[in-house]
Amino acid sequence: MSLLSESGAVGEAHSKLILAGEHAVVYGKPAIAIPFPLKIRATVEVNPGKVVLESLIYSGDVKEMPNEMNGIKECIKMAFQMLQKPLKDIKIRIDSDIPLGRGLGSSAAAATAVVRGIFSFYNKELSKEDLFYLVGLSETYAHGKPSGIDMTAVAGDMPIYFKRSEGGKPFRAIKPLHMVVADSGIIGDTRIAVGNVKGAYEREGEKIKKIIDRIGEIVDRIKISMIDGDSSAIGALFNENHEKLRALGVSNEALDGLVESALRSGSLGAKLTGGGLGGCIIALADSLEAAKRISKELIAAGAVKSWCFSTG
Ligand code: MEV
Repeated sequence: MSLLSESGAVGEAHSKLILAGEHAVVYGKPAIAIPFPLKIRATVEVNPGKVVLESLIYSGDVKEMPNEMNGIKECIKMAFQMLQKPLKDIKIRIDSDIPLGRGLGSSAAAATAVVRGIFSFYNKELSKEDLFYLVGLSETYAHGKPSGIDMTAVAGDMPIYFKRSEGGKPFRAIKPLHMVVADSGIIGDTRIAVGNVKGAYEREGEKIKKIIDRIGEIVDRIKISMIDGDSSAIGALFNENHEKLRALGVSNEALDGLVESALRSGSLGAKLTGGGLGGCIIALADSLEAAKRISKELIAAGAVKSWCFSTG
């Protein structure tokens, strides 16, 4: 998604939700992600002097960005190099509705919007391969060894069944899913969470392998249930997936508390979403009205924000 506006070129991306399979996807298992309609927009315009980034977390010369932003810095530098343009006379402004570090794909979405904006500014076609290459640079800094699911999900408009070896395959659920996303307010660090799972794998190989294998089976069953329109089955599988993520050590008290609260409020099933150790949970409801009710209960139980929506 990119367009030229009066004030410059604009690149956009949206956030994502992993329905199932996070962490196991790093080890080659499948995962399912859907688009989530929080948006991020990068506006690229002429600004004599350096290449400057303006965003909530950093404003200034791209070359002087702090270490924790090395990913997006390398991504921007490489985009200019690919386009054979000098790194000067540009301002990139990022406006985002996506909260940071909540498992909603903010880092992949930011890089996607920026790359789309830069290519659009120079009126250059952007192939999927080049987009993924550039965003992949940024994600490697942000996540260590990302599976690629985040950047695939934020760039597409349909549910995807994703495998590291095959990329994302879009598919359709037969019925809408009515969902609540609730934010614990705690920033989770995906790099640390992925590192913790790796550490556990190295220490307790067989036990962790079994959990990861089972998550792969859960994902396959969720995909079948989405195609069959069986929300109760999906809910039960969400619950089991959450238990497995707990066993991998990537949940915490706040996320477990929100999951329990969602279940007490009538959710068909709930789980953490994304890297964990903070961030959000998703809860499945049998109608949008029920989702709104669950959402209120989740706020009462301590969620700092919640969103209700139905998949298209
Ligand atoms: C993060 O949104 C998903 C993880 O599985 C990491 C990855 O796939 O790169 C935790």
